Amino acid sequence: MDINQIKKSSLKELEKIKDLSGLEKFRIKYLGRKGELTAILRSLKDLPVNQRKKIGKEANKFRKELEEVFKEKSKKLQPKKLQPSKIDITAPGVKVPQGHLHPITQVLRQVEEIFQSMGFEVVEGPDIETEYYNFDALNVPDEHPARDAWDTFWLKPKSPKSKVQSPKLLRTHTSPMQVRYMEKNNPPFRIIVPGRTFRYEATDASHSHTFYQLEGLMVDKDINVANFKAVIQEFLRKLFSEDIKTKMIPTYYPFVEPGFDIQMKFPSGKWMEIMGAGMVHPNVFKAVGYNPNNWQGFAFGIGLDRIAMIKYGIDDIRLFYKGDLRFLKQF
Ligand code: DAH
Repeated sequence: MDINQIKKSSLKELEKIKDLSGLEKFRIKYLGRKGELTAILRSLKDLPVNQRKKIGKEANKFRKELEEVFKEKSKKLQPKKLQPSKIDITAPGVKVPQGHLHPITQVLRQVEEIFQSMGFEVVEGPDIETEYYNFDALNVPDEHPARDAWDTFWLKPKSPKSKVQSPKLLRTHTSPMQVRYMEKNNPPFRIIVPGRTFRYEATDASHSHTFYQLEGLMVDKDINVANFKAVIQEFLRKLFSEDIKTKMIPTYYPFVEPGFDIQMKFPSGKWMEIMGAGMVHPNVFKAVGYNPNNWQGFAFGIGLDRIAMIKYGIDDIRLFYKGDLRFLKQF
């Protein structure tokens, strides 16, 4: 067979090949030991010398050419090799940063545990309250001067119609939950109510517009101030792991009679106020349908931020609400 003919047909064939098995057949047909080109090269010895030289040269040149294009094609048809993995499975792992509870939450959990150990149940109320629960039912009627003690965030009524209902506000204390609880439950009981509270006032190192309180309420027959004092002493002893000196300073809160502020003594000798308290006012019992002649109770409101500040030695309440990780990571 003529070399030019083989050239033409082989190159055409090669172009059409689509897989490796086709390519192998091609190799055998043209380049193999019994292939067409080999046959020509083998038959050279029978040719006259002058032709042998010419044809031999051409045939060898073409063979090289064919081998070259064959290689190219074979490269193209090879399945793509996977890249070596970029993941080094022997590298040491990266530690996932782990969060923890906010210091206020940590203190709250501890405080809850202490009161639960004394038989108090934990209940929660809404952050958005009505004027009725936040003030009126707590013996603070409209126009009562005591309302000034609680600078209030009032909420805009949604529609003129809702003006008829009790206006809404962000609760200024956790005391409204006293009323909500007593409306639905009968004495005797002991509850604590932790929660967020809000005041419309300028912030400084000891004031924040948002803060935490823990309300307490115990109602039973023959409850008196001595019972309250015993509960609070035990609470402080458990919280600070030592006996804490306290003072009860008579003061006025509309929802209690008598009312007091409780101060505790620091190791430094300084006294600091940590809660308001008192014996539940008869008007509050009347508002929830209890007979004040049959039941007595004490109530208290602890500033949880205060407690956390004392416990951790923090002098600025605003640090609790900044979300600064440099501060939070210390707890
Ligand atoms: N609700 C009061 C306040 O936010 C604190 C308080 C005082 C709560 C006396 C009480 C109480 O339950 O008896 O300032």
